[in-house]
Amino acid sequence: MKKSGKDYIVFPLDFASIKEAQSHVRLLGPHVGMFKIGLELFIHQGPEVVRMIRNMSAARIFLDLKLHDISTTVFRAMSRVADLGVDLATVHCSSSVKMLEMAVQGACKKVGVLGVTLLTDNDGKTLSKGGFQKQFATDPEKLVMLRAQMAHDAGCTGVVCSGREAAGIKTRFGKKFLTVTPGIRPAWSLTKEDDQKRITTPAQAVLQGSDLLVIGRPIRDAQDPAAAAQKVAAEIETALARSLPA
Ligand code: C5P
Repeated sequence: MKKSGKDYIVFPLDFASIKEAQSHVRLLGPHVGMFKIGLELFIHQGPEVVRMIRNMSAARIFLDLKLHDISTTVFRAMSRVADLGVDLATVHCSSSVKMLEMAVQGACKKVGVLGVTLLTDNDGKTLSKGGFQKQFATDPEKLVMLRAQMAHDAGCTGVVCSGREAAGIKTRFGKKFLTVTPGIRPAWSLTKEDDQKRITTPAQAVLQGSDLLVIGRPIRDAQDPAAAAQKVAAEIETALARSLPA
C-alpha cells in the first residue's frame, strides 16, 4: 500500500501524565502514522502507556528509551522491550558495535532497533566541547556516517539522524535501512529560540529520503494540533509529488 503523508509523521508523546498522552492519542490518532513514547512518559507511567495506545489507535508505536549501557545490560533491557509489542526502539550508537549487536539480539526480531547517531540538539560546537576529534567537530556528518556504519554492521533496522544526513545514509546503506528524523521544523513554526540545531522542514526531510519524521512541538503547541498535523502531511505529499519524474 502506498505511504501517505500522515504515515511519515511520528508524534512524540512528550507528557508526564497518561491523561494528556491519552487525549493526544485520541486527537492525533487519525492524523499520524506513529506515536513515540519517550523517557518522561515511560518513567512516569511504564508499559501501561503501550497498552493504552494499542487500545485507542491503529498507529504504530516507537519506544524511544535511547538505551546506553554495557552490552549485557542492553541485551537484557532490549529483551524486555521485545515483549512489549512495540514496533521500533532506540539505542545509542556511541558505545560499540558489540552493544548494538546485543541490542539487536535482545530484540529477537520482535522490534526494529534504531541506532541514535548524533542527537539533533548537538552540533560542531557541542562535539568540540565534548572532546571529539577536530574532523568530527568541523563536520558532524562524518560522525553520523561512522555511527550509521556501526548500526548497519550490527544489523540494526536503521538510524535516527537529522534530515540533513538522510540522503547520504540512504546512498551508502540502501533504501531499506530506515532513517528516522527528529529536528523537524515546518517553515510556519520556525522560532529564533529553539534547542534543536540540525533542523529541516518536513519537505526537505522527505526529499532527502527520511522515512519517518518525529514532529513534536510544532504540532503539540499549534492552536489546532490536528490541523497542524494535516498541514504537515499535505506538505509531505506535495513535496513527494513534485519530486516524481513528469
Ligand atoms: O519536534 P520536537 O523538537 O518537539 O521533538 C522533540 C522530540 O524529538 C523528543 O521526543 C525527543 O526525544 C526527540 N528527539 C529524538 N532524537 C533527537 C532529537 C530529539 O528522538 N536527536
